[in-house]
Amino acid sequence: MPADAGLPNAKLTDQQDPPQISAPVKVTLHQLFCMEATAAPCGIVIIGASGDLAHRKLLPGLYHLYKVKLLPKEFFILGAARSPGDDAGFRDQIEAAFKEKGETDGATLRGFLEHVYYRSVQYAQLGTLESPLKEFALKHATQGKLLFHIATPPEVYESAIASLSQAGLIGKGKNAAVIIEKPFGYDLDSARRLNRLLLANLDESQIYRIDHYLGKETVQNILMFRFANSIFEPVWNRRYIDHVQITAAESIGIEHRAGFYEKAGNLRDVFQNHMFQLLSTVAMEPPVVLDQDQYRNEKLKVIRSLRPIPAEKLNEMVVRGQYGSGAIDGTPVAAYRQEEGVNPASTTETFVAMKLFIDNWRWEGVPFYLRSGKRLARGVTEIAIQFKQVPHSMIPAFPADQFSPNVLTFRLQPQEGISLSFEAKQPGTKFCMTTLDMAFNYKDVFRKSSMEAYERLLLDAMQGDQTLFVREDMNDLSWAFMTTILKGWEQSPPGNFPNYAAGSWGPREAQALIEKDGRAWRK
Ligand code: BG6
Repeated sequence: MPADAGLPNAKLTDQQDPPQISAPVKVTLHQLFCMEATAAPCGIVIIGASGDLAHRKLLPGLYHLYKVKLLPKEFFILGAARSPGDDAGFRDQIEAAFKEKGETDGATLRGFLEHVYYRSVQYAQLGTLESPLKEFALKHATQGKLLFHIATPPEVYESAIASLSQAGLIGKGKNAAVIIEKPFGYDLDSARRLNRLLLANLDESQIYRIDHYLGKETVQNILMFRFANSIFEPVWNRRYIDHVQITAAESIGIEHRAGFYEKAGNLRDVFQNHMFQLLSTVAMEPPVVLDQDQYRNEKLKVIRSLRPIPAEKLNEMVVRGQYGSGAIDGTPVAAYRQEEGVNPASTTETFVAMKLFIDNWRWEGVPFYLRSGKRLARGVTEIAIQFKQVPHSMIPAFPADQFSPNVLTFRLQPQEGISLSFEAKQPGTKFCMTTLDMAFNYKDVFRKSSMEAYERLLLDAMQGDQTLFVREDMNDLSWAFMTTILKGWEQSPPGNFPNYAAGSWGPREAQALIEKDGRAWRK
């Protein structure tokens, strides 16, 4: 998809090897145009390699890329972290974990592990990696290109970047780039400080701020859906759309991440990044060319057009919540305040709902309702576009406002797909109406499962394509919006936490946020 046509290795092709299709719905692939690109030789340095992210996402992602031959032959991976260890121990750990997850192809795994190394290092002394990096670069013929993936806790981002720079491992104009994990900052000031540090040592073109939501297949498909078809764009505006709902509901809790989550909370963890990326993707204007600048310019304009939330309207437009004890799928679960490592009087929010307006020609007056939370009834992430009701009913006994409005849904989780609901007549002698769904499910249609978001993004970073990474200005604007809310919250700490039961759909105030407008959250 949005690969920069200017990439050295990218070419537009008629796909030679079309994906395997099974067709519960009729699928006709008239012609497949694909942007193909192979990654250039490089050394990948995972800083924070003993952490959860490295073992859950980065190493499995890189291994899968290796397996499907999307990594170049000339690559190496150096894991660096404070924990003691060596190459053999790190490789054994990876091998055991992959085998436990069902990997049976021992030969391929051993081949991959020959490219993998480990060094124990303090994050303020990353210069000690210089000599092993030279050695591995020579051995694997990577031609000197380095990609540093900073996957440490955010508290050490600054010292890691400073020490890489002091050692001359990164620098403007050098053949080195940095991938940095969210959260990029804690509020507007800290985000700007981190940015200044990055930009003092690197050009923006060498910085890859990762938001894994941008690597999700459905998120990319929103662009194709909107701008590669001619029938949707004419109705994609205030004249036809009643409102938009974006939901990122998780049934899981904080999963041993109390240390991080207590300081972050839902607004910083999910809204500042994932939710605003979804919002801007669904609401953006069509970019003239799908390249990294124009795509990100259009998304930025959406965030710039958000109607500010004045302090006196904060409670009317934004709801925060924290889960109490409850049950998920019949299994009792503890309250947030009882989770290990959480302050028993914590005021950290585990749920946020928000009503937003985008003040531009396309969206004037259309509310966007966003909600996200932990320990909700079900894990589901989706964007639902609800169209306006029919203006008139031709059946007098059935008033127009009783027709279910059409809803177009992009589902990111649990099963990626797109569906459109519409009214139809039930078969029979009477006029009985029913709501039907035209649904497209990735897994049912394309037998190949989607590439994991991280794989896609790691590959893009190796190819030098920043389209699906967060640009500095987007991060800044998004933090500016969130910081106003955070400051407002600081002035009035929540007095009613916990205010929703685990396993419910969030606090009562979140229902009221939408119901007072005569609308309802999707179930
Ligand atoms: C992460 C958040 O960025 O996204 C987590 O830190 C959250 O708290 C996760 O659970 C959700 O990602 P996904 O891909 O499971 O929706």
